[in-house]
Amino acid sequence: MSAPPPAPVPPHPVPTPASPALFTAAAAARLHAHAPYSRFLVGAALRTADGTVFVGANVENAAYPQGQCAEASAIGAMVAGGAKRIAEIVVIGAPADPNVDASGLCTPCGGCRQRLREFSAPDTLIHVAGPEGVRATFTMDQLLPFSFGPDNLSF
Ligand code: THU
Repeated sequence: MSAPPPAPVPPHPVPTPASPALFTAAAAARLHAHAPYSRFLVGAALRTADGTVFVGANVENAAYPQGQCAEASAIGAMVAGGAKRIAEIVVIGAPADPNVDASGLCTPCGGCRQRLREFSAPDTLIHVAGPEGVRATFTMDQLLPFSFGPDNLSF
């Protein structure tokens, strides 16, 4: 008996417009990335409910595991700035070299999904972008369903 055919891959969630200011902030932060090893530049810009924007870029290290993702950098800036809730975030990721294929979706890694979850609501929007614009928009709950979060420890 042959194996059943694989389930079809669902289409990417449609992009939802992010605020132009948030996109511009993420694009600027991306150009400051320290990514000499992967040569993959990532910028993130998040907005809190009161409209404050915090940015981050990926920060790699010669000791490879010590590298930090752009989302983690932006969250660190937010917490250091005195805020704790993410209303919306734009992540722009693409190779530094404009001559290589840059069409892939730079979705947050597993660790960053959990980091974002700590400070997000289930319907917080996560815009995944390339340098040309937003390519897909996900809710937090889509990226990390059945997640473990602060609520699990509020006993
Ligand atoms: N990276 C991010 O900063 N965010 C993501 O969402 C995916 C990956 C970084 C980590 C590393 O510096 C480079 O991209 C290649 O993985």
